[in-house]
Amino acid sequence: MNAMNQDRKTLIVANWKMHLNVHQSSLLLHRLSERIKVHRNIEVVLAPSMLSLQPLALEIDRRKFKLSAQDAYFKDEGGYTGEVSFAMLGSLVQYCIVGHSARRIYFGETLEMVRDKVQAAIRNGITPIVCIGETKQDRDAGEGRRVIHDQLTTALMNVTSRDLEKVVLVYEPVWAISTFDGILAKPNEIEKAIAYMRMQVRELYGERAASKVSILYGGSVNDQDVRGYLEVPGVDGALVGAASLNYHQFSAIVDVAYRMRLEV
Ligand code: PGA
Repeated sequence: MNAMNQDRKTLIVANWKMHLNVHQSSLLLHRLSERIKVHRNIEVVLAPSMLSLQPLALEIDRRKFKLSAQDAYFKDEGGYTGEVSFAMLGSLVQYCIVGHSARRIYFGETLEMVRDKVQAAIRNGITPIVCIGETKQDRDAGEGRRVIHDQLTTALMNVTSRDLEKVVLVYEPVWAISTFDGILAKPNEIEKAIAYMRMQVRELYGERAASKVSILYGGSVNDQDVRGYLEVPGVDGALVGAASLNYHQFSAIVDVAYRMRLEV
């Protein structure tokens, strides 16, 4: 018996970030397809670079994998040189990561931009995977809770209760991400932060919505420690960066999630 919630699907998301060209992406998909079976109750989501989405959409077995973009622009069309809109992605992807800390930190993405991206995703039938998390400086300054509160409430500002069912949240403390500080988060820290996020959702949308919303954990998750993270009460899956680029590791992560679902 473990803490996994039966009513909520387990989501394992591979964030390939700015790695792998089209050929390499296709190769990794192929390797993963050989190892990962179709699992009911587990959704395996691949987020390759924008460039690889179209070719992967043609190759992918949609029973095994769903596709996600890593970001998109909130306007549907217009003179926004260099951007790709959620409207353009609508037929290609089921998900889009929104508000990843790399976007917030390196590309100046504001709370309001994240809010507008969440809206644009929903408007175009794409499930936003909304990343929420404090930096090490925020934490050291005792501002962690406030940052989580502000990021979560603005991201959901214009989301109706019906649309909330199409939103996935991630608790991803920036200090735990491998490319930032890579400090491993302790289970009780994750449990508290996720309980706090669920409480925010409860205050905004009520008990039923709070018990239905999926909240993932992200930050240096690998095949060795994924079980520990998925065992944390309230965690519905993982957003995996570095370890998702290695097919042995990523398929092992999916396998752990699958076995844990069977144990429930
Ligand atoms: P990591 O990345 O697993 O390499 O820490 C997670 C993320 O940034 O989404």
